[in-house]
Amino acid sequence: MKLRAMTQDDVDAVLAIEQVVQRFPWTRGNFSDALDSGYLCCVDETEKEGIRGYAILMPAADEAELLNIGVAAAQQRKGLGRAMLAKMLDAARAKQLRRVFLEARPFNVAAIALYRSAGFSEIGVRRGYYRDAGSSEDAITMVCELTQHSSLPQAGERSGERVNG
Ligand SMILES: CC(C)(COP(=O)(O)OP(=O)(O)OC[C@H]1O[C@@H](n2cnc3c(N)ncnc32)[C@H](O)[C@@H]1OP(=O)(O)O)[C@@H](O)C(=O)NCCC(=O)NCCS
Repeated sequence: MKLRAMTQDDVDAVLAIEQVVQRFPWTRGNFSDALDSGYLCCVDETEKEGIRGYAILMPAADEAELLNIGVAAAQQRKGLGRAMLAKMLDAARAKQLRRVFLEARPFNVAAIALYRSAGFSEIGVRRGYYRDAGSSEDAITMVCELTQHSSLPQAGERSGERVNG
């Protein structure tokens, strides 16, 4: 896996994946705004396959919120999502953040299983959190308490793998 900082030039490729894999995709503006806001925005890219996945983490004080994570359809279920998430958590640890929150749609069993396996646990439900096309859906809130220890090298610290923020 080769994680690097996302740039505005990557948004087309990221959006192409997002529009296929997400039931409620982010818009181009959502990605651009995340970059402009200085969030931790990363892509996984290989020479052969180009951009295969992306993740966006919004730090706030000593905590962060995982806003988005996606893996190209052809690359799913090969460990990439788990590896990207682990690196984002390592990047959060490197920033001395204490915990990472996220919201998940209850139907998204793949994402919820991924988050659980990465150390997230469910702490509540936000009623009517998602409002799409006139309907609303609850969100499951999950949290991962960060320790300063990790089994992986610190993401964002190694040459060529610097991440935003
Ligand atoms: C969620 C997502 C990022 C996972 O990425 P991935 O690279 O396919 O996941 P991994 O191969 O690293 O799998 C890690 C774990 O997640 C869980 N998982 C992944 N895909 C799953 C699926 N289709 N069904 C059930 N569990 C799944 C499993 O626990 C898996 O571990 P295992 O393979 O040892 O059983 C990917 O499915 C995706 O892009 N989904 C669409 C976008 C999305 O829903 N993002 C989250 C909300 S923003």
